[in-house]
Amino acid sequence: METILIVDDERNYLVVLEALLAPEGYEILTASNAREALRLIRNSDLDLLITDVKLPGTSGMDLLQESKKTKPDLPVIMMTAYGTIEMAVEAMKMQAYDYITKPFQNEELKLTIKKALQNHRLIKENRLLSKALSDRYSYGNLIGKSKPMREIYDMIQKVAPSKASVLITGPSGTGKELIAKAIHYDSPRKDRPFISVNCGALTDTLLESELFGHEKGAFTGAIALKKGRFELADGGTLFLDEVGEMPQALQVKLLRVLQEMEFERVGGTRTIKVDVRVLSASNRDLKEDVEEGRFREDLYYRLNVIHIEVPSLRERTEDIRPLVNHFMNKYRQVEGHWELSPDVWKALYDYTWPGNVRELENVIERAVVLNPGGRIRLDDLPPEITGEEKELDINRFIPIDAPLQKTLEHIEEKLIRRALHQCNNVQSHAAEMLGITKSLIQHKLKKYRISL
Ligand SMILES: Nc1ncnc2c1ncn2[C@@H]1O[C@H](COP(=O)(O)OP(=O)(O)OP(=O)(O)O)[C@@H](O)[C@H]1O
Ligand SMILES: [Mg+2]
Repeated sequence: METILIVDDERNYLVVLEALLAPEGYEILTASNAREALRLIRNSDLDLLITDVKLPGTSGMDLLQESKKTKPDLPVIMMTAYGTIEMAVEAMKMQAYDYITKPFQNEELKLTIKKALQNHRLIKENRLLSKALSDRYSYGNLIGKSKPMREIYDMIQKVAPSKASVLITGPSGTGKELIAKAIHYDSPRKDRPFISVNCGALTDTLLESELFGHEKGAFTGAIALKKGRFELADGGTLFLDEVGEMPQALQVKLLRVLQEMEFERVGGTRTIKVDVRVLSASNRDLKEDVEEGRFREDLYYRLNVIHIEVPSLRERTEDIRPLVNHFMNKYRQVEGHWELSPDVWKALYDYTWPGNVRELENVIERAVVLNPGGRIRLDDLPPEITGEEKELDINRFIPIDAPLQKTLEHIEEKLIRRALHQCNNVQSHAAEMLGITKSLIQHKLKKYRISL
């Protein structure tokens, strides 16, 4: 029940208004002067204040001002007689919700009251909602309390209920897949499958049959009918990871499927209809690929109805602490107290985290394995973080008569292996990290016989 306080020094009005409004289902409190009214404003849980402009002693205007000071969200409707309209305007400037002129029309008054209460409810709900969001340290399995992460939580909450496509971009290891899952598990599709495809990990033909399936005998090796990921995701969500790696020919097919939600299996003629929500991710902004003709513009707009951009961990260092706490709790085998020495925290904050959250998770897991109980020390961190590797001391590590070519190759191999490890074996990411082309890294993988 909503409570309205009516303030007027004319008892008649109080009686009339109470008789008019109580049957509408409101609880009515009355006061005949500002002092009494203020006491009620302070001590009761009010939803609306209606006050006459003219009151004996403290005026209605002063009451409005006091009320805004004590309860800024409480809507106030001013009542004025003809001739005091200027005052009403003044009142509006002082954030009164509305004013009515006496004598008033019953229906008009009821409507104004209804609107004021509705408005008040919305304000209250928004307050609660934004408070709940700003208090958030996590969303699903996502951890982080930085502003960008809270904005991402907000976005996930907004887009989850719809079927809109979402493109998630950000550097490797920033949690793009985790965000996609959070959207799915917060959506009405949560009891249906979440299916993911890595568009960068398969050859062109394999990717096509992976996405759309194939009929028995469609090509050599197609010994049985196979359903594609689109079919498996029916009713649920399909996550196209590394979507920027998708070959051009397939981009055309994908666009058609997204528009019509129907397709044929490879080697098949029957049209299969599905209901799938598509989320996609890329480690770079696809706009550049579109401009350079590597990615179809029309497909880009289809996938990018909503865009979520995840910043690197370096750009949100406030998240390091909650993430470390989270990973410590996840990996430690011994229950009980644990801590990181202050120089460990400093090293974690100073480091640049090229592999982002994935790298941080690996570092903590490693430290916990090396030191299963208690206190993590600087020695438990890998050298690139403690800064020991800052300068390669060739006098210490490389013999003076080392053959140049062999030694360089040895170092090159190590750098490539490290980059791949950092990027979860995604070749294109490792190539980017090292500043070389994808074909060059493929060449080097063959040369050093690195298998993924
Ligand atoms: N905000 C986060 N909270 C908790 N864990 C996270 C967060 N971000 C990333 N992770 C963890 O880091 C690892 C990498 O996350 P994920 O696979 O989602 O990254 P990605 O952006 O898809 O990376 P890539 O581009 O290399 O595929 C996962 O183990 C994930 O659980
Ligand atoms: Mg990923």
